[in-house]
Amino acid sequence: MSSHSPNQTHSMGAPFKFTDANLATYQEYLTRYDDVESALLPVLHLVQEQIKWLPQEAIEYVSVLMNIPEIKIKEVISFYDMFYDVPVGRNMVHVCTNITCSMFGGREIYAGLLKHFDTDYLTPTRDGRISLQKMECLGACEMAPCMRINNDYVGPVDLADAINKLEELP
Ligand code: FES
Repeated sequence: MSSHSPNQTHSMGAPFKFTDANLATYQEYLTRYDDVESALLPVLHLVQEQIKWLPQEAIEYVSVLMNIPEIKIKEVISFYDMFYDVPVGRNMVHVCTNITCSMFGGREIYAGLLKHFDTDYLTPTRDGRISLQKMECLGACEMAPCMRINNDYVGPVDLADAINKLEELP
């Protein structure tokens, strides 16, 4: 069981700091790496576990905490599509649109989900429940066409299955 405090809401401009539990996790991360910078990826994941995305206030906090320039942190965030610099929904849904999944309809499933939930890439649905993100290979080609709902891989799915699964999300 994770000791992190998951999914606090965070509005733009609100101050950020780690919960006590996550601060302890951060200290533990530091013991695993030779230098502080090497811990940046797991630390950014930890921020996202706490508040789902990486607002400017969190970048400033991490910058001071780890003594890493903000610009470097922003470069990392923009390089990896697993980090979000915009607010996202309570549930992250990654739909694979790479070759194997596309051969079995992955792109149409992604387009169909955007239409059904009346949303766009990463934009949270109006009820704040879901953000959809198309992804390159999720590493589960044997499940094609597949998607990842938070940390769970689901596949093969068709559009109707995918809609049903997402409608069940809290
Ligand atoms: S191409 Fe979709 S999981 Fe690999």
